[in-house]
Parts: sequence; C-alpha cells; structure tokens
Amino acid sequence: MTDSGATTKLTPYPELDAEFHARMAADPHRPAYHFLSEGNWLNDPNGLIQWQGNYHLFYQYNPYGPFHGTVHWGHAASADLVHWTHLPIALAPTPGGADQDGCWSGCAVDNNGVATFIYTGVRGKDQLPCIATSTDDMLVTWQKYPGNPVIKSRPPDLDLIGYRDHSVWHENGTWYQVIGAGIKDVGGTALLYRSPDLLTWEYLHPVLIGDKQARDPVWTGEMWECPDLFPLDGTHVLMMSVWNDHQLYYTAYVAGDFTEYRFTPQKHGIVDPGGSFYAPQTMLDDHGRRLIWGWLRENRTLEAQQAAGWSGCMSLPRVLSILPDGTLGQQPMPELQLLRGRHYAAAAMDLLPPLPERLDDMHGDTLEIIAEFDLGDATAVGINVRCSPDDEEQTRIVYDRRVQRLFIDRTYSSLTSDVGQDLFDSPLAVANGEVLRLHVFLDRSVVEVFAHGLCTTARIYPSRTDSLGVELFTKGGSAHVTRIDAWEMSSMWT
Ligand code: FRU
Repeated sequence: MTDSGATTKLTPYPELDAEFHARMAADPHRPAYHFLSEGNWLNDPNGLIQWQGNYHLFYQYNPYGPFHGTVHWGHAASADLVHWTHLPIALAPTPGGADQDGCWSGCAVDNNGVATFIYTGVRGKDQLPCIATSTDDMLVTWQKYPGNPVIKSRPPDLDLIGYRDHSVWHENGTWYQVIGAGIKDVGGTALLYRSPDLLTWEYLHPVLIGDKQARDPVWTGEMWECPDLFPLDGTHVLMMSVWNDHQLYYTAYVAGDFTEYRFTPQKHGIVDPGGSFYAPQTMLDDHGRRLIWGWLRENRTLEAQQAAGWSGCMSLPRVLSILPDGTLGQQPMPELQLLRGRHYAAAAMDLLPPLPERLDDMHGDTLEIIAEFDLGDATAVGINVRCSPDDEEQTRIVYDRRVQRLFIDRTYSSLTSDVGQDLFDSPLAVANGEVLRLHVFLDRSVVEVFAHGLCTTARIYPSRTDSLGVELFTKGGSAHVTRIDAWEMSSMWT
C-alpha cells in the first residue's frame, strides 16, 4: 500500500470526541460484534498473542482519518475472545527513525518472557524489519530497539518487488522468520531467515516461490503480503495475501510438506473467497487452537468511507483445522455463543418453489442463523437476509447443487449504486443425502457464512432501515428444512 491521502487534513488524536462517538454509535453499517477501531482507518491484524491469559489484538491503524496512511499499531485486549477493550496506541512512527513513515505489519512472540514485536518499519522507500519489546503485563508500553532496522537491506542477489511482513517462530533454540516478497517477473515468495536472538538475522532461501502467470490451481500474483507459516493437524500451512500491480486480491494458502525449511504444496485454496477478507494473521492460543483473524475491507467508495469516519473491521476469530480432504477448514470460535441473546426458532418445514418463505419472527441486522437443509429434489436452496418487506433489497446466500458452489449474491443488497454489487462463489460439495448446514453471522455491513469448513465473507450496505427480514427458499424442486435457529447477537462492547 502507499501512504495515499497523507495530505488530507489531520484530525486531532488520540482523542475522538463525544460527538464523534455518538455518530459512530448511530451508524447503521458499523458492526456490533466484529472488532473495529473507535473510528478512522484499520487494516491488518498484527501481533496476535495471548499474554498472561489475555488475548491481545494489535492492528494497522491510521489515527488521522479513515484512509490508509501514517500507520500506527492500534491495540485491544480481551479475556474471553468476545468482549474487547480498546487500549492506547502501541506503536507510532518515530520521527527520524527506521519506522518514521509507518509501522507496518508484523507479529508478536514470547522471547523468554519478553513480549516482542517484529514489524516492518517504513522510511522513505525502505521497508525493513524492526523490533520492539514490552515489559508491562497488559502490553501497553513498547520500547523500540535502538539498532532498528534489524535487517539492514534485502537479499542482494534477488530482484525483489516488495519485501515486508513477518511470520516468526522458535524451533530447537533458533528463531526463524519468513518475510513476504515478490521476485520480479517470477512471482510471490516468502523468504526464510534464522536468528539466535531476534536481533541478528541470516538469510537462508525462499521457502516457496509462486508463478505469477499460473492461474491453476490458485493464482498467487507477483508479490505475497503477510505470509503466515505454521503447523496444523500434522501438516503445514503457508498463507499469502496476493498483491499484484498495486491491487490487493485475496488470501491464498497452500497446505503440505515443510521439510528442511522448504515447502511442497499438496493442497491449494483461497482462505475466504468473499471479496473482503485480506491480510489475516493466526495465533496459537493457550488451548492449543490455531485462531485466525482477517481484515474485512470496505466495499464502498473512498468518499463514503470518509463520510462515515471509519473504515475496515476484523473478521470473527475462527478456529482452523485440516479437513479430511487435506484442505483448510474454518469454524466460528465457540466463545461467540456468549453473545447470543433472544432466540428465535421455527419448526422444521417443507420449502416449495417459487416464492421464498419469510420467517416472520426472525429479523434483524445482528443475527446468528443456523439452517440445515435436506436438499430433496431442489437444484438450489438458500437464505435471504437483510430483506426489505417488498424484497427490493436482499442479500442471497445460495447453495447451487448443480454446480456445487456456494454463493453470496449482492446484486440486490443495496439500492445505493456505489457499493459492491457483484457475487462471490466458492466450491462446496454436499453429497447426495447429506444435510447442508449454513451458519451465518450477520452484523450490519458484514455477512460471514460458514458451511462445511468453508467460510466466505462479504460486505453489504443496505440503504433501507426496514431491510431486516430473513427468508428461506428453494429452486427447481422441494426441499426440507430440518432445523432453523437464530439468535439476536449482542454488542461486543457492553
Ligand atoms: C497488507 C499490507 C501489508 C503492509 C500493511 C501496511 O494489507 O499492505 O503488506 O505491511 O498492509 O498497512
């Protein structure tokens, strides 16, 4: 990314006044239980760590407005992974320092009891690894290492486009990290280093090099941002956020063998194909779970973001696993049930085409919905959410069994024309006789859909205040709904 917008007038920081908070609270598009900053700009999750029992989420934050620029690290903490408290900014650019133009993405590790960040410091054209440490229990204050940057230049024998973002781990007394990069005219890569102490680093080799021309099995572009490399369920996963010609695409992953520090992919995929999820980071928590958060980008104009006063939120935290077919699985974190409020249930029902079945009791813009379908002889089934009474606005979540794909269709999500209206789809094979289970988290402008280990998230901006209805539908034949439950979700900030 660039520091575009740096010339925009700066608002005072860190105080956001009462009027600003009132405006945020009244914004119908601001999620209630997806993490977001108090205002202004948020992008990647950074420095995820559980420290003395508390979960800490740091994130790319611009305190000067809802646009990317002057990147700091915002900070929040949670004891239960559900309710979060905002804490003061953890990292700010140091004038004249190695990060004077931005504290870009990085991670946190426990270095023998000392919480340590490895992040990308930006100074002019340089983007180089920097270190900061904290010694207070809540990780509120951070000291930058005076010798920053800890790696002074890129590997000289590689012609790189881009070199930033860090995934660091400790193994047999040695620290390792991969740094995201792209090799000119070749493709994205993750460059491996090792260190005895996090301060002096030796470059080894790329763990994997992508092919920017190859569309199959998954295109990974010319540069990889935010690589994350970790073991999972007896195999290894490498995630990369695909950057190409200054555009951000999606986060891809490979799962496979990581022997002698080289990656041999066996499975490939897209982590979340909903068009919004990008630059995720994972962490291992004290329960041994591999959790992931991603940045959910807005899908409306820069002017609309400027007018709103905020931009970007996080996905729900998800638990990762390897599915029986070797691909990456994602489940909503069970702790989210703490937010369940009023419960709506409907009896099992038959669905017949062509008209959708509106669930009169079930409505709202902050809902968790679980629906199970026996597909019968239907060709497609699904749930419509954020439906206006006349169905003029609606967002369709559709499983099409003929093409074995799950869609989020935003064609009619909003009467406003300058928001994303395209549809997203991903492969999902539900076997004959198997029950289709859709698990939907609706949170104002976020629709996050889990189905059989897959997760796909889209941003929507309905314009009507009465677009709150929920419908079930079938196409091409009848289907049977074996279960439908929904809960009103409460705010994570109470
Ligand atoms: C990904 C990214 C990272 C970079 C950061 C800057 O969204 O572009 O590569 O470190 O954001 O904010």
